[in-house]
Amino acid sequence: MASIEPQKVISALGGPLAVGKMDAEAKAEALEGYLSAQLDTSEFARLGAPSRPMTVAELDELIDQRPIRRGIGTLFASGGTNPFGNRLPTEPVNVPRLTPMPSRPTLADFFRLRFAPAMHVLQSADKALTAGYPEEIVLACLLHDVGQALMKADHGW
Ligand SMILES: [Fe+2]
Repeated sequence: MASIEPQKVISALGGPLAVGKMDAEAKAEALEGYLSAQLDTSEFARLGAPSRPMTVAELDELIDQRPIRRGIGTLFASGGTNPFGNRLPTEPVNVPRLTPMPSRPTLADFFRLRFAPAMHVLQSADKALTAGYPEEIVLACLLHDVGQALMKADHGW
């Protein structure tokens, strides 16, 4: 169990004057926040996380050097062409660099450059549109699988 050094806590909370103005509930909240931050710091260090956030340039250098991007959806893993994010033997081990987006991307650009293959959702939206469903349903059909590109689905299957 970590020890609490009162002077460090008081200093972290803004000093004796600031702490003196807090009521008991505010002090309890502030102490909880302080301890939570201490726990996060020690856990990140234990996991080998860098002591400072990576710069954009550092992250950019790593993009095509690893099998994953920062994220967990199919967009972030080699093998993103299938809905489960499993890399096929024919696919590269590391994620490729993304094709740059146009300066003024449209929704179609996102489907073409980020969420492809998108035929399934385009077909779904087209069928809803053709059948006369309301715009909300058409939009839902168009977007219903976008989440898989952004985060790994776990429905227990
Ligand atoms: Fe779907």
